[in-house]
Amino acid sequence: MPTSTAPGKIYLFGEHAVVYGEPAVPCAVERRAAVTVEARDDDRVVVEASDLTLDGFTVTFDGSTADADPELDVPTRLVQSATGYVEEAVAQARDAADAPDAGFELSIDSEIPLGAGLGSSAAVAVAAIDAATRALGVTLPREELAERAYRTERAVQEGGASRADTFCSATGGAVRVEGSDCRRLDAPELPFVVGFDGGAGDTGELVAGVRALRERHAFAADTVTAIGDVVRDGEEVLADAPAGSPADESTLAVLGGLMDFDHGLLSALGVSTRSLDAMVWAAREAGAHGAKLTGAGGGGCIVALDRTDETERALRYAPDCVDVFRAELATEGVVRT
Ligand code: MEV
Repeated sequence: MPTSTAPGKIYLFGEHAVVYGEPAVPCAVERRAAVTVEARDDDRVVVEASDLTLDGFTVTFDGSTADADPELDVPTRLVQSATGYVEEAVAQARDAADAPDAGFELSIDSEIPLGAGLGSSAAVAVAAIDAATRALGVTLPREELAERAYRTERAVQEGGASRADTFCSATGGAVRVEGSDCRRLDAPELPFVVGFDGGAGDTGELVAGVRALRERHAFAADTVTAIGDVVRDGEEVLADAPAGSPADESTLAVLGGLMDFDHGLLSALGVSTRSLDAMVWAAREAGAHGAKLTGAGGGGCIVALDRTDETERALRYAPDCVDVFRAELATEGVVRT
C-alpha cells in the first residue's frame, strides 16, 4: 500500500496577495500529512482520519456526496472542508490515472492542525493525490502533482486559490510563486518560531472577504499591491544572503522589519485576529526580529524570526498561545514509501 507524506508550510511573505498575481515566498516546514491508500474493487471512497489534530473520524462517500458523521471536537465546517479537499483530490487522482471509477480506502494521519495557516489542506491534497495515483500504478512528476493539488484547492476555496501552498508542499524548501511561475529559491537558513492560538480560520471565507474588499475599495487593492512590494524587497534581501548558511543578524533585522510590515497590511485587510496580534506582539516584545500571521489568518499561527530562546519562552507564557515550536525547513516535498 503506498504512503505519501507532504509537508506543511509557513509564509515568510505574501499570502492573500499571491491570489491576485503578486509574488509570495512560502517555506515548507517539517510537519507532515501522511496518506496511505489502497485501491478498492468497487467505486466507493472510504476516508479514515486518525489525527487531523482532532478525534478520529471515518467518512464514506459515494459519487460526490460526502456522508460524514464523525465524532468530533472541532467545528463541523472544518471537517466538511477537509473532506471537500479529499473528495477533489480523489477526482484528480482518478483523472490522472484515467480511472474514472476507481475506489479507494484512504487513511490520513496529519501533524498539521486544520485551518491554522500551516498548509494542512495543501499537504493532504498533495499526499492524497500522490498516494492514490500510485495505488493505481501511476507515479506523477512533481510539477503535475503540484498542479493537480492546486486545482483541488481552487475547486474547494471560494474566492480563489494560488499555487503557493500546493507547489511548496509538493517540492519542499523555500519557494517563490507568482501566478503560474513557481520555483525553488536558494535561501539562507532562517530561525522560524511558530506560535499557535489553537484556533482556525476558513480559508475560503477569508480569501472571499479580501476579494470583496479589494473590489470595493481602491485602497484595499493598493494594500494588496503593497504586500507584493514587501515581497519584492524581501526577495532582494534573500538573494543577497549566502544560501544554506544561517542568515546574519542584519539580514534577519531587514527581513523581520518586512514581516512586521506585511502583518500590518494583512491586518488592514481584516484577516488578523486579537489572538494573532497578541502573539505577534509577544514575539516582538521578546526581541524577535519580526513577526506576522501566516496563511489565511482568522486564527491559527504566527511566525517569528528569532535565533535565541526568548520568543519561544515568551509565547509559551502568552495567554493566547497554546503551542509553540521551532519550525525546521522541510527540504524535501512529497516523500514516497
Ligand atoms: C492560504 O494558506 C494562503 C492564501 O494566500 C490562499 C492561497 O494562496 O491559496 C490566503
